[in-house]
Amino acid sequence: MRIGLLGFGTVGKGVYKLVAPRADMQVVRVLCRRDLELDDAAVTHNFDDILNDPTIDTVVEAIGGLHPAREYVIAAMEHGKNVVTANKAMVAVYYDELLPLAQRMGVHFRCTASVGGGIGWLSELERVRRIETVSHVGGIMNGTCNFILDSMHRTGMDYKAALAQAQALGYAEADPSTDVDGIDTWHKLIISANVGFGVSLDLNSVPVAGIRNIQASDIENFKAHGMVCKLLSTAKQQDGSYSAYVQPTLCPAGTLEASVPTNYNLITLSGNTSGRQSFYGQGAGRYPTAYNVVQDCIDCLRGRGFYCSYGKKVTVINKLKLSYYVSGATDDALEERKALNWGDAVVTRPVSIHWMHQWLDAHPGAFIAALPVEE
Ligand code: HSE
Repeated sequence: MRIGLLGFGTVGKGVYKLVAPRADMQVVRVLCRRDLELDDAAVTHNFDDILNDPTIDTVVEAIGGLHPAREYVIAAMEHGKNVVTANKAMVAVYYDELLPLAQRMGVHFRCTASVGGGIGWLSELERVRRIETVSHVGGIMNGTCNFILDSMHRTGMDYKAALAQAQALGYAEADPSTDVDGIDTWHKLIISANVGFGVSLDLNSVPVAGIRNIQASDIENFKAHGMVCKLLSTAKQQDGSYSAYVQPTLCPAGTLEASVPTNYNLITLSGNTSGRQSFYGQGAGRYPTAYNVVQDCIDCLRGRGFYCSYGKKVTVINKLKLSYYVSGATDDALEERKALNWGDAVVTRPVSIHWMHQWLDAHPGAFIAALPVEE
């Protein structure tokens, strides 16, 4: 396999290092803005050098973001090259475009590292679907949020201090919005649901709430009720209808989700034959992520192309009603739905997920967390 590597940042450099000692693949060109000297690959600033090199059969996209990543990946596939990527935003947003194009061009398109970093989550989800129906995917998919929530829970520190620590350790970006507003988790949930259910979820029908407004006093309230707050993603299918959402959720202390420490991920599926399977590990970082990129390259070499046959477009309808913990704002509509107080915060009677997220949109300073569903 002759690889054109796009990007030489955290993931790109990791891929380069993991590929270097291998006999079955070689990085021959690297697209990079900097002037780099590499031992065994030519560095270029011009993507056309990779696109028009007929000896390059596979493009590894590690530049991230939507553009120009999408345009590069489309051009690569149109030139008959396989694509391997860790870019969850691009895969989630352009799923409808990228999968059919790969099928039409007869090239491989793989993105295992886009969800769960070094965890073989998507590739196993693909295998699960060979013999069973998946009814649920979801869990803790963002290491930065888990680190912040775990630090606040363990030490009592406030959100700002926990975020600063996450930034100092290199987990959170200087602008942490994508992580703390739940967008990163939202992308990962949509990809997981698409692969697990064989559909294409309408992104705009999937509500998302993040952790930006959580305070130390909220954590105290959760502790007093034996709960741990996690940013959870959930997607379910039942009898042809689909639900999906991302929101802070209270997990009873002692459950698997409540016990996930620092920046780890815990991602779960429910299948009709195997039951619950949970995947735990490093959801980010140079070598865990590069590991799954290289695994995907090996799968391409062995003829394992994309994850699933491209399915129908699906709009999510969240019929479930949940009780919510709400702090940081209130109004008459919320008070009307109040069941009790935890400290100064409101706990609602069961309300629709749609209603709660709409209310949150109108109160951007508020924090919400769903209470666990009684099973
Ligand atoms: N920013 C992500 C996280 C890592 O914190 O989990 C890349 O998916």
